[in-house]
Amino acid sequence: MNIIVTKDYKELSKKACEYIEEQVKGKPNSVLGLATGSTPLGTYQELEEGYRSGSADYQDVYSLNLDEYVGLDKIDPQSYHFFMNKHLFHSINIDPDHTYIPNGKASDLAYECERYEQLIEEIGPPDLQLLGIGQNGHIGFNEPGTSFDSETHIIDLSASTREANARFFNSIEEVPHQAVTMGIKSILKSKKIVLLASGEEKAEAIKRLLRGEQDESFPASALNKHDHVTLIVDEPAYKQAK
Ligand code: F6R
Repeated sequence: MNIIVTKDYKELSKKACEYIEEQVKGKPNSVLGLATGSTPLGTYQELEEGYRSGSADYQDVYSLNLDEYVGLDKIDPQSYHFFMNKHLFHSINIDPDHTYIPNGKASDLAYECERYEQLIEEIGPPDLQLLGIGQNGHIGFNEPGTSFDSETHIIDLSASTREANARFFNSIEEVPHQAVTMGIKSILKSKKIVLLASGEEKAEAIKRLLRGEQDESFPASALNKHDHVTLIVDEPAYKQAK
């Protein structure tokens, strides 16, 4: 694993932006695997600024998002569809028809998982997959115990993940109990992976990741199986691993 330690979140966001811009400049029809959550927000802002200043063009880019809550409509402000439109897609010139996110409102969720995995095969796999990490080591919404052989599936969200994500909702009761997520195997199909971790609350998870184990009780450890992973981590998230 290639490790880049940055002074702070701002520098982490700039680094991640540079990686993505370099990918898109080198291959204008790149497939980007994208994540939601707090961590990539700075990166998306940097991408927007880069786009406005002409440093990258997204008209031929495709994107595949990692996950979506079950039961939330695309226009629900808490949905990941809404998040991506608000924080990235509406700010750059990506073609909306080139952006893919699982449908958490599908009437047949099992079929939706199959359809999405098929899409990863047809459009992807991502040339570059951007990931965040949960405090319990989840990647996408793959909670501890998820098989490393998993493809896109429905997952029951753990109490700790629902609590961590409650900050985006009015109350914890509103946080959905399930999500559609790319599986670990789906994520590992990506050609390159960039994992972002910022802040002290991620320090424990980064320390465990960097021990090099591969254990299904800690989903992110599957990344130790992949040959092209870059971890961009800020000082507060890295300090326990030193
Ligand atoms: C989001 C996702 C999650 C987050 C993780 C960290 O699409 O797949 O795995 O990356 O929960 O979230 P933040 O960045 O909010 O700490």
